[in-house]
Amino acid sequence: MLNKTIKIALDGPSGSGKSTLAKNLAKRYGFVYIDTGALYRTIGLFVSDRGIDSDDAENIIACLPEIKIEMKLENGGGAVYLGGKRIGEEIRTPLISKYASDVSKIPEVRAFLLETQRSIARENNVIMDGRDIGTVILPDAQVKLFVTASPEARANRRYAELCQRGVETTYEDVLAEMKWRDANDSGREIAPAIPAEDAIMFDNSGMSIEETVDNAAKIIDKVVNL
Ligand code: DC
Repeated sequence: MLNKTIKIALDGPSGSGKSTLAKNLAKRYGFVYIDTGALYRTIGLFVSDRGIDSDDAENIIACLPEIKIEMKLENGGGAVYLGGKRIGEEIRTPLISKYASDVSKIPEVRAFLLETQRSIARENNVIMDGRDIGTVILPDAQVKLFVTASPEARANRRYAELCQRGVETTYEDVLAEMKWRDANDSGREIAPAIPAEDAIMFDNSGMSIEETVDNAAKIIDKVVNL
């Protein structure tokens, strides 16, 4: 048990509030926040910039040896670098969301990103947010939360977030994209976005951010003796 790091897995569909929750919990416990979706988005950005279609698995796989992706610890979180360049907001567009969801269905892409995710958790106490953290990446995580909210609540949040960033879109488009991504992410054959057997279901539809964080912290405090 000596030097064993603490791992908290937060999985769930897009817009469920995982990343806001994960960031707040990381701050509260002094853990490193890891956004694993950013890794899939960065692969999506790379192949999109190459002009490769998001469903062209053969050419996406052929690109992988060229993709130099790293996660470095910065300000309490994992920052993604692609070919030495820090990746920022350019991966947060609807186009790259679609690319990320599509590339994440390819087993070779998932295998390519596996060690980057696990190595950070070996050396740090982490709160990791994604789709398969509790099932595949960190099956030994001490706490696994599967964070959900209704599609409408999630679409509302995502729409507000995109508007704030100045992305032009409509609520209807965001809801439609969310439903498409839900089906694409949870219906895929490999590492589908489903709860681990030992995950705790955490529906935050009617909760404020403060309530969400406090309720999740109550669960974590019971399991992890900090
Ligand atoms: O969390 P996000 O919306 O930034 O993730 C973008 C896409 O990446 C999502 O549609 C599915 C995929 N993803 C995944 O398959 N596994 C993860 N651990 C994280 C994200």
